[in-house]
Amino acid sequence: MKVLIVGSGGREHALAWKVAQSPKASKIFIAPGNPGTASIGTNVPIAADNIAALADFAASEGIDLTIVGPEIPLVAGIVDTFTSRKLACWGPSKAAAELEGSKVAMKEFLRRHNIPTAPFKIFMHAEAAHAYLDEVGAPIVIKCDGLAAGKGVTVAQDLASAHRAVDAMMVDKVFGDAAGRQIIIEDILRGEEISIFAFCDGHNAIVLDAAQDHKQVFDGDQGPNTGGMGAFSPAPGLLSTRDEDEMVRRILLPTMSGLVKEGRPYVGILYMGLMLTDSGPKVIEYNVRFGDPECQALMPRLQADLIDCCLACIEGRLDEFDLSWDPRTCLTVTLTAPGYPGDYPKGSAIKGLDQLGPEVLVFHAGTALREDDVVTNGGRVLNVTALGNDIDAVRHTVYSATEAITFDGMHYRKDIGKRMESRPPC
Ligand code: AMP
Ligand code: GLY
Repeated sequence: MKVLIVGSGGREHALAWKVAQSPKASKIFIAPGNPGTASIGTNVPIAADNIAALADFAASEGIDLTIVGPEIPLVAGIVDTFTSRKLACWGPSKAAAELEGSKVAMKEFLRRHNIPTAPFKIFMHAEAAHAYLDEVGAPIVIKCDGLAAGKGVTVAQDLASAHRAVDAMMVDKVFGDAAGRQIIIEDILRGEEISIFAFCDGHNAIVLDAAQDHKQVFDGDQGPNTGGMGAFSPAPGLLSTRDEDEMVRRILLPTMSGLVKEGRPYVGILYMGLMLTDSGPKVIEYNVRFGDPECQALMPRLQADLIDCCLACIEGRLDEFDLSWDPRTCLTVTLTAPGYPGDYPKGSAIKGLDQLGPEVLVFHAGTALREDDVVTNGGRVLNVTALGNDIDAVRHTVYSATEAITFDGMHYRKDIGKRMESRPPC
């Protein structure tokens, strides 16, 4: 089968790496890909959001399966375009992808289907939002409606920063006009934050082994939020049996059936961002794609064939599908450019990639080729990844490899997976 993977990050490198292990894969294309994916398949210079050009490429090349990594093409309707041209494309339709594309639509969906989430109000005018803030006080959470590259949420600890967030979104429109037209003000949720992924075929869902991300840029969960600084899987003890049961019964199944009732069944991977509160798990957000870097910690453990799995989702056959997992622990550490998640330089030479042993996988994210050299080309640059018999062993393998890699100002967290050591068993 010819497979096209859409995207250019560490997640897409991990997906391409996994697809390459399938005996069914005869040819792999990645659009636009990165220097890492070029060692697995053929990079195609088409941007991930150029849906028309991607569909033309898939049709002319006779692609049998397209796997979409990032949310932007999904929210823009890539699956609808491909399907209308009889091209198999793994991911949710535009209508289902609205769960990530609009936070207002997502919160209204949760309310309609009585799915646990933080109480909220929607505002279309800054004055009303300010008045509401004065009434309820802080801490409080402010969210803009549309996609904002993961930056559209302010968890305000005091009223002054809450008011500033409203003005930034609605008056200064720092996330653009559309994203700031409506905002959500919601109660703060307290507890441990977890991500749950489920493969979905419209009607059936299979929950994946747990993976835990580390969002803040510095050790000890300090500093600003990023796209993710590292992840590990599995995460035993993360979810108690009671929370897991409640998550399936009160969140996953009502989400699937709610979307079916609304005529937009969900196909692809559903990413549920949950807070484990004292009164059970609550939805913070949905994403309509794999987490990055969670995907990099999951793919090396997935024993099922990813092509089979994607086809089972598209063809509504997940009820006969079995996911199996390598019991070992996988850990991935993200190496970032200095300054990330703020401004950062590009173009620094990356050294040491040829020094690594076969037990280490390096998934590329923000890299580029300059002549024959790999250089930095983004905030999150590389994901150093390995499997190990336990968290200590895998941390040792990954961090030893990380020390062999250098580029100007390279930053990474030293404590990825450390929280596993202190987690009490459920
Ligand atoms: P989101 O983009 O909706 O995932 O929000 C980004 C981050 O803000 C989440 O990962 C949480 O850490 C935090 N967050 C969002 N909503 C809430 C909430 N109601 N209470 C506490 N933290 C929140
Ligand atoms: N790692 C978090 C995300 O992909 O949104």
